[in-house]
Amino acid sequence: MKKNKNTIIHGRKTVLVPYRRVHVNKYHGWMQSEELQELTASEPLSLEQEFRMQESWLDDEDKCTFVILDRNVYSQSNSDEIASMIGDVNLFLNDIENRQTAEVEIMVAELHARGQGMGKEALLLMMRYGVEYLALTSITAKIGLANEKSLNMFRKIGFKEISRSEVFKEVTLEWLVDTDTKQWLWNETKHIDIVMEEESESVLCT
Ligand SMILES: CC(C)(COP(=O)(O)OP(=O)(O)OC[C@H]1O[C@@H](n2cnc3c(N)ncnc32)[C@H](O)[C@@H]1OP(=O)(O)O)[C@@H](O)C(=O)NCCC(=O)NCCS
Repeated sequence: MKKNKNTIIHGRKTVLVPYRRVHVNKYHGWMQSEELQELTASEPLSLEQEFRMQESWLDDEDKCTFVILDRNVYSQSNSDEIASMIGDVNLFLNDIENRQTAEVEIMVAELHARGQGMGKEALLLMMRYGVEYLALTSITAKIGLANEKSLNMFRKIGFKEISRSEVFKEVTLEWLVDTDTKQWLWNETKHIDIVMEEESESVLCT
């Protein structure tokens, strides 16, 4: 999506940056893991296909993608994005009749980064961006029935089950924006800083 291509979201533990060409090699390396393919219901792609995918996601107005950086590593490594990459978080606006709903996907690929609150924070940052900048009024998530960590995380944030498929072995959860949930989200994310960088080919569009 072009809208977020120069947006950086700074949280306490994580920083979200748009998924760019420089991130593809490391991302592609992660996706060779069978565990991650299964948990994220993804098919393995060749490196060439991954580069094409990254380019198409940047242009596709239905897909908003951010790479998750570990904020500590980022600040201690002179803003080295590749060294700080730990995962990704995406919003897919798949419903052509309702542009105010999106499906969210999140992955903390680096095992050492899991269990420290980074996945939860990145999800909340993305939800805040989706509600504030994309005017979303509902967000859904499809999660494998056996993915206990992810189910716990989404339920804790307030997502509610709306359907269950025994065939695909997954549940669909939904988070609806209303006065209370929006207030809660704003409160949870009051520390964040959303920065729209100036257009700069050399800095952000590689
Ligand atoms: C699911 C995932 C994103 C969680 O990220 P994380 O950074 O490890 O999680 P956090 O440390 O932020 O924890 C957030 C919540 O997740 C749940 N959780 C995390 N680790 C857990 C564990 N080992 N067992 C049970 N629940 C766990 C808890 O509810 C936790 O909240 P709490 O700490 O307040 O109890 C991460 O494990 C992951 O990417 N897994 C592989 C890909 C995947 O499953 N993606 C989801 C598909 S949509």
